[in-house]
This record gives sequence, structure tokens and C-alpha cells, in this order.
Amino acid sequence: MRIIRVKDYQQMSRDAANIISAQVILKPDSVLGLATGSSPIGAYKQLIEWYNKGDLNFEKVRSVNLDEYAGLTADHDQSYHYFMHQNFFDHINIAPQNIHIPDGCAADMEAECARYDATIAALGGIDLQLLGLGVNGHIGFNEPSDVFAKGTHTVKLTDSTRIANQRFFQSLDEVPSGAITMGIFDIIQAQRVLVIASGENKAQAIKKAFFGPVTPQVPASILQFHKDCTLVADEAALSLI
Ligand code: GLP
Repeated sequence: MRIIRVKDYQQMSRDAANIISAQVILKPDSVLGLATGSSPIGAYKQLIEWYNKGDLNFEKVRSVNLDEYAGLTADHDQSYHYFMHQNFFDHINIAPQNIHIPDGCAADMEAECARYDATIAALGGIDLQLLGLGVNGHIGFNEPSDVFAKGTHTVKLTDSTRIANQRFFQSLDEVPSGAITMGIFDIIQAQRVLVIASGENKAQAIKKAFFGPVTPQVPASILQFHKDCTLVADEAALSLI
């Protein structure tokens, strides 16, 4: 476990973008596991800037997103499909056929979960997985639980997660109550994991996840066992350790 302590969100974003761009330069057809939420927006912006300057090429990159809300169509402005296009994909030269995001509206969710895991396997697994951290220590939408979920699965979101994500919706009622997410085993099979966290509201989660016992009650704690996990976090997020 490598911890890179940075001053603020901006520096976190630059460092994360540097790590992702190094990955893409070293392996142009990398499989990037991508995340949504406020945490990665700055890193995506930085990557777009470097792409525009001609320093990066995403032509051969493949991507697999962590998760999607259940019941939100790809064109819903709070769906993770929409988020990824708006904040990243529409501004770089990634090939549309190389973009993979779970379908939160599939008629048969069980089949969709199996399809998504088969997609990850067919790509040869994830080279670099980018992760944000939920305030309750969740990764993707793997909520605190009695067991570590293995593969892609559907989940019922906790109140804490729905409240944390309410800021993107008009009201709490509009926040979906379920989601589809890669499992913990999918995530930890990635060759490298990059976790980013900024702000005081992540301090408790960081303390528990990286300095507490490894337990499915704090899903991110499993990352302590990963052979190549880097946490880039700012001073506020690291204030309790
Ligand atoms: C959501 C996403 C997670 C993300 C988390 C933290 O629940 N499913 O992938 O890491 O929120 O989001 P933020 O970065 O906005 O704090």
C-alpha cells in the first residue's frame, strides 16, 4: 500500500492523472477500470487537457466502468453512462466499442451481471482500476455487508450512500434505491489499483479502510491485501491518520 499525501483536490487530480497517463503510455491498449462521483472529475479534466495537447492517445484504450444506478437510462443526466460521456469520453478519442458500462435498465439483471463479468474476462482483466471512496467505505457500489461480493451483482443502496449522492438529484426520493456494480473480486483482480480521496468527509472512511481491520463491513479495507494499491489523498482526507 502506497500513500501519496497531497495538498488539495487539484493536486490529487494531477497526481491521479499522471498515474493514469503513465499507464496509457506504457500500455496503449490498457484496460482502465473507471469510476464516477466528484472525486475523479478533476483527473478526467486533466487527462482531457493532456489529450488536447497531443500528449496522450486513447485510441486503443479499453474501459470498464465500476457501476450504474438501477433504472436510469443511459440518457438520464444522473446516470453513470451520461456522467462518463459528459466528463470524459466525449472529449477524448476512445473508440465507442471499447467503452463498457453495466446496464442498469437490463430486463434480466442476473444475465446482465454475468454478461458484464464475461466482458471483463474477455478483455483480459483490468490493468488499472481507479476508485473513489464512499463515506461508509464502499467501493463501486459494494456497500458494507457480511460478505465480500465476488462478481458483478445488483445491490440495494444504503441510506448513507443515497444521502451522500442526493446532491446530484433534485430530492432524496429521486436517488435510485438500487444499482449494479462490479464485485470486490472483480476489483481486486486488477493489476493496479488507484484510490483517490479528497476532503474531511472521507477521513473516517480512510482511517477505517486503510488502518482498520479488513472486513466486508468496510468494503475498501480489502485493498490492504492488494499487491499494488496506491492511495492519493489530500491533507483533509488524511487528517485522522
Ligand atoms: C458513488 C459511486 C462510487 C464513488 C462514491 C464516492 O457512490 N458509486 O464509485 O466512489 O460515490 O463519490 P464521490 O467521489 O462523489 O465522493
